[in-house]
Amino acid sequence: MRLETPVGGRAVILACTLNDPDPKIAPLVFAAATARELGATQVGLVAPYLAYMRQDTRFRDGESITSAHFASLISHHVDWLVTVDPHLHRRASLDEIYTIPSVAVHAAPLLAEWIAANVRAPILIGPDRESAQWVSDVANRAGLPWLVLDKVRRGDREVSISLPDPERIRGMTPVLVDDMISTAGTMIAAAGHMAAGALPSPVCVGVHAVFSGSAYADLCNAGVARIATCNTIGHVSNQIDVSGLVAEAAAGLLRR
Ligand code: R5P
Repeated sequence: MRLETPVGGRAVILACTLNDPDPKIAPLVFAAATARELGATQVGLVAPYLAYMRQDTRFRDGESITSAHFASLISHHVDWLVTVDPHLHRRASLDEIYTIPSVAVHAAPLLAEWIAANVRAPILIGPDRESAQWVSDVANRAGLPWLVLDKVRRGDREVSISLPDPERIRGMTPVLVDDMISTAGTMIAAAGHMAAGALPSPVCVGVHAVFSGSAYADLCNAGVARIATCNTIGHVSNQIDVSGLVAEAAAGLLRR
């Protein structure tokens, strides 16, 4: 690890999105420690996608609650954090695990804008109850109807989702909205219901394009009309640019 630009007396921002995090963690920690050692006045981290957040409980005996351990590691090495829509399910805010100042930027206004500009007569659908928080926010901003389904996850790739009431959707374009698309199992199951109910193919909108393994191809082959994600993780499906909001949040923390 070598910092090629002198950092003494300067604020340093490390920009590192944390999908596929393990190979990124050692370089990140070394860069932060080196910047501090070489006299940086502060070291901030901009991680548009924040790793490990879904592991917020011990789902099976012996499992590590990696979201909390990762939070203490990062809190030790940097002075502040900016991220975008971290997966907050069993926790109300990042402050429950991160001990440094942090800002969670919300992509909802940008998702609302994109949907309003790109989809005819949209109805927003969240795949599970926990998605109600962001689906309702996006829908209310654009003045659109919304509903959520029930999801039971049986394994990493196996999910079952309740059937939506086709009468609520008929004549509209279903827009599946989720905070992340990982295996795409959730969106594929929901898309299957649209096809079974002879409803229009859904538009899939996700904040984070995690897309593990063949997930993107699987979703493209599942009869969906369009897939759009934010550029928190660089991916061919990126349509929604969050960089302005992220930069504003980082500037706010720099000034503190
Ligand atoms: C779940 O809690 C999340 O909000 C997403 O629904 C989930 O992470 C999507 O994962 P996958 O694409 O693997 O179904």
